Amino acid sequence: MTDQKPRSGLRKGLTSYGDEDFSLFLRKVFISAAGYGEDALDRPIIGIADTGSDFNPCHGNSPQLIAALKRGILLAGGLPMVFPVISLHESFAAPTSMYLRNLMAMASEEMILAQPMDAVVLIGGCDKTVPALLMAAASADIPAIIQIVGPMQVGHYRGEVLGACTDCRRLWADYRAGRLDAAEIGRVSERLAPGAGTCMVMGTASTMAALTEALGMTLPGSGSIPATTADRLRNAEATGRRAVALARSGGPRPSEIMTAAAFHNAMVTLQALGGSTNGLLHLIAIAGRLGIAIDLADFDRIGRKAPVLVDLKPSGAHYLEHYHWAGGTPRLWHELRDLLDEIALNVAGTTLREAIDAAEDVPGQTVIRPRAAPLKPVGAMAVLFGNLCPRGALIKQAAASPALLRHEGRAVVFESTQDVARIDDPDLDVAESDILVLRHAGPKGAPGMPEAGYLPIPRNLLRQGVKDMVRISDARMSGTAFGTIVLHVTPEAAVGGPLALVETGDRIRLDVEARRLDLLVSEAELTRRKAEWTPPAAPTGSDRGYARLFQDAVLQADEGCDFDFLRPRKAAADRR
Ligand code: FES
Repeated sequence: MTDQKPRSGLRKGLTSYGDEDFSLFLRKVFISAAGYGEDALDRPIIGIADTGSDFNPCHGNSPQLIAALKRGILLAGGLPMVFPVISLHESFAAPTSMYLRNLMAMASEEMILAQPMDAVVLIGGCDKTVPALLMAAASADIPAIIQIVGPMQVGHYRGEVLGACTDCRRLWADYRAGRLDAAEIGRVSERLAPGAGTCMVMGTASTMAALTEALGMTLPGSGSIPATTADRLRNAEATGRRAVALARSGGPRPSEIMTAAAFHNAMVTLQALGGSTNGLLHLIAIAGRLGIAIDLADFDRIGRKAPVLVDLKPSGAHYLEHYHWAGGTPRLWHELRDLLDEIALNVAGTTLREAIDAAEDVPGQTVIRPRAAPLKPVGAMAVLFGNLCPRGALIKQAAASPALLRHEGRAVVFESTQDVARIDDPDLDVAESDILVLRHAGPKGAPGMPEAGYLPIPRNLLRQGVKDMVRISDARMSGTAFGTIVLHVTPEAAVGGPLALVETGDRIRLDVEARRLDLLVSEAELTRRKAEWTPPAAPTGSDRGYARLFQDAVLQADEGCDFDFLRPRKAAADRR
């Protein structure tokens, strides 16, 4: 009864009982228990990683997507098998979804490799889900397609169009400043996110959906299809069909699609989108799984050539559905052709050039600007270096106040995210020209590098009409946030980076054009402070379990905050 066929379908990856025939026999017993016939053994199996969860409203359309994926798989002659993996929603994961991204990536990789599937469709959308699934796909390296859930439709309040969560922040600031009362902010909370799908501004979810297209890991043109449209369901059906073709041909595999050229295209796309700063962290982490190093200076150079062309919040005026109906990411690439590597492959088996040639040309649209009339003359982000950030820091210059891009001010230091509670203290000594500094909010320090870099403007100053100040931290910032905010200062304070040495009253100089961030304190004084510095206590609870693993293994922001031991992928390749 020993089968000599190449291992595929239900014969793949047999459970070890010391007798392969018995292992296959038992598998048939249990597939029969699920009501499947003998025919199931001869079909390519397409795993569908279900990230639907009651804790993840952004993935509320997962049941419909799964039905459409199954239809496509069955129509193409495959056998769909749905399996659960960890799901992460931004507002329901503590301390932060970033803390759990690597856990999701690790669990997804292991379940892809442990179960018999010839290809896999991974359903992702809410911020950290897509990078986690791409990291898993890169490491597992069996044929894989990301099925994006798609953005929400926009909300409405008193004649104004609203989007989660750029407008969440703006309206919350209005409430803090007394311009909205409790009843009004309560009504707003019901309108900001009107249904299933991901945040409909160019936040992290929308950024990662576009970058997934740029990496070639979802069907071209599909990243921005709104969540609740028939188009999204047809896209899922087509994804299911395509996954069967990938399973039959055995590829191309993620490592053959996510090449250095694909990461270059993703970086160009990120700069021109006005995308989320988190996008860079995730790209570094995904690339690291494939042995590809992303050079921060290279990303900065790309930003000097690729201007922001997309007029979407938080850098511009429109919302994701407008971007999609204006032609979406293929239309954006059409404007950036000379900067892209057009021979990069995608999961459809076509090239970027073919995706660009097929881009819709929408007469009169104003959302995706022509190269000659960009929204911003340069890319969304700039990488800074200096004595405050020897291994780099990031600023989203597209969402900053132009007048603050070159600024020198007095530091006002907050020791932790908890310490930020002082910010509304009427006795806090702070002025508009000061620079707010937050530390111990990096990968190890918080832990999990929370999106705390968007420090609120002190209430006293808010009431005086101050809307922006320079803020610096080793934290991250939501892709939906805006302001003159320097993030990802590396090395972080918790491991003894220079950020740990700043004292309230020190002068700091930010010069984005020169790409510099400097603490204006003498070398001798910094050496003295460094000699007196003692590492902070490890975060509570980090003596065991995942928290301990995280403390021991998480890398710094310039390495994507992946776990050090997850980067080599030889072991996964051997198991495939
Ligand atoms: Fe899920 Fe914004 S909270 S995408």
